[in-house]
Amino acid sequence: MTEVKKIAVIAGDGIGPEVVGEAIKVMKRTEELFGYRFEFEHGLFGGIAIDERGTPLPQDTLDMCRNSDAVLLGAVGGPKWDNNPKELRPETGLLGIRKALGLFSNIRPAVVFDCLKDASTLKPEVLEGTDLIVVRELTGGIYFGEKFRREGENGLEAVDTCVYNVTEIERIVRQAFEVAQKRSKRLASVDKANVLETSRLWRETVNRIAPEYADVEVEHVLVDNCAMQLLRRPSSFDVIVTENMFGDILSDEAAMLTGSIGMLSSASLGEGSFGLYEPVHGSAPDIAGQGIANPIATILSVALMFRLTLGYEEAANVIEQAVKQVLDAGHRTGDIAVDKSKAIGTTAMGDLIVNAMVR
Ligand code: NAI
Ligand code: MG
Repeated sequence: MTEVKKIAVIAGDGIGPEVVGEAIKVMKRTEELFGYRFEFEHGLFGGIAIDERGTPLPQDTLDMCRNSDAVLLGAVGGPKWDNNPKELRPETGLLGIRKALGLFSNIRPAVVFDCLKDASTLKPEVLEGTDLIVVRELTGGIYFGEKFRREGENGLEAVDTCVYNVTEIERIVRQAFEVAQKRSKRLASVDKANVLETSRLWRETVNRIAPEYADVEVEHVLVDNCAMQLLRRPSSFDVIVTENMFGDILSDEAAMLTGSIGMLSSASLGEGSFGLYEPVHGSAPDIAGQGIANPIATILSVALMFRLTLGYEEAANVIEQAVKQVLDAGHRTGDIAVDKSKAIGTTAMGDLIVNAMVR
């Protein structure tokens, strides 16, 4: 009998519940097509949890996530909670859950769909064939290093420190090698080894463990060059692995190649196969409750969950293929429509994708 997979669902605020609802429909369709079995458990998280429980991340929600195979997250936040003190802000729950679940790596694909090439600001011929993944270290580096101010010889100084240990580097690099092994087996490791000591340790670590992944071809790219090449020849990249701050910037740059935030999926991973999956976008308070949000980012996050956590590669392909087919047929939600008057809603888009899923 098929093993039951426990999926913790934390839909959150704004359009979160709307887009998550469509993603669950897609998962249920794979139960029919592939005989999988999912047990969905829902938990409060974000602004709604603040309202109902007085904290953005209730303990029972966290326990539910810990006892699951994977987490599906919508989005959190909204103007209602913006002026709350830090411990009562939805974003605090977001950082808290990543930390509590030990999710040290953030994986963001940037795929250019041929039929959406006109949605990007870059020339279509430059974008042709772009399909890459940025693997970003999420819990170390300069964002987490010691920070302070002091009085220097020439007045006030501010200091940020960047620290990485071998363990932190090795675990993220191994994960990137594993992602690359499941794709076209090319890994670009991005650093600033000509200047930074942390980058030199990063590069040494990559070189030391590379022989264990002999089927993957590794290239070292300096971060400034990578930023240029992403705009020049994005299709030459497959998997990019890099430290926290470089990854923050490069993953946003890569996202812009694809045109719309409503299309971008992400995974956050720790040790082992467990992962948290969510669209890159936020709770979109400006369109919440109207049924017009694009559910594709969340649906593609399910495909990532299938591939990276559950090992359901064939079903992941079926989902991605269905999305492509629906877009190729010209169906668009408002955020990606050229002619806004022809735009369809969240549920209609979800239904079209579900119906396009075939084995
Ligand atoms: P946002 O991503 O929510 O919205 C930016 C713009 O993109 C808006 O015009 C929105 O309507 C549009 N948009 C976003 N997702 C869309 C979709 N699926 N379909 C169609 N249009 C879409 O970012 P914003 O406005 O900066 O933040 C809104 C709230 O979300 C804030 O409270 C912020 O803190 C929170 N946020 C939460 C995140 C998360 O839960 N991971 C990430 C980013 C922001
Ligand atoms: Mg960013």
